[in-house]
Amino acid sequence: MKILFVCLGNICRSPTAEAVFRTIAARELADHELTIDSAGTAGYHVGEPPDRRTSEAAARRGYDLSGLRARMVEPEDFERFDLILAMDRQNLRTLERRAPVQVRERIRLFLDYAPEAGETEVPDPYYGGANGFEHVLDLIEAASRGLCAALRSGQPSSAEGAR
Ligand code: 4NP
Repeated sequence: MKILFVCLGNICRSPTAEAVFRTIAARELADHELTIDSAGTAGYHVGEPPDRRTSEAAARRGYDLSGLRARMVEPEDFERFDLILAMDRQNLRTLERRAPVQVRERIRLFLDYAPEAGETEVPDPYYGGANGFEHVLDLIEAASRGLCAALRSGQPSSAEGAR
């Protein structure tokens, strides 16, 4: 199973999702063969490491973002990944517009896997305060647990598996 997390800049939300899901999946899905990556729909920060506030908030919870570098979503990603998970509707729409028609069913909102969160989008923390980074982590941890449950149940393309 190959999973790609997508936000706008690939320096805050999607690298967080990549690192958190990798950590949780290593514990909960040790017998699954997973490829986990992240990318952005915009190119403002290509080649840069994750945002310092993002990395520090993640590190306080034990997630290591060092070594990650921002990249943009490429056309080949639509062929390569089985599941492409957008952090918000803006990025979901961008991905759906760029993807070949037959690939669109692999694209969904990441928070579909956290129905209990009561929110459907991971908000962009870039221009907000410190609390935004904690909130992003809370949502991403919940959705990562839900995605693990869905993968265990063999229903990765359905949030039903997460319940
Ligand atoms: P991300 O956050 O999409 O979660 O990586 C952002 C990072 C940078 C910008 C916007 C959002 N920016 O406008 O530079």
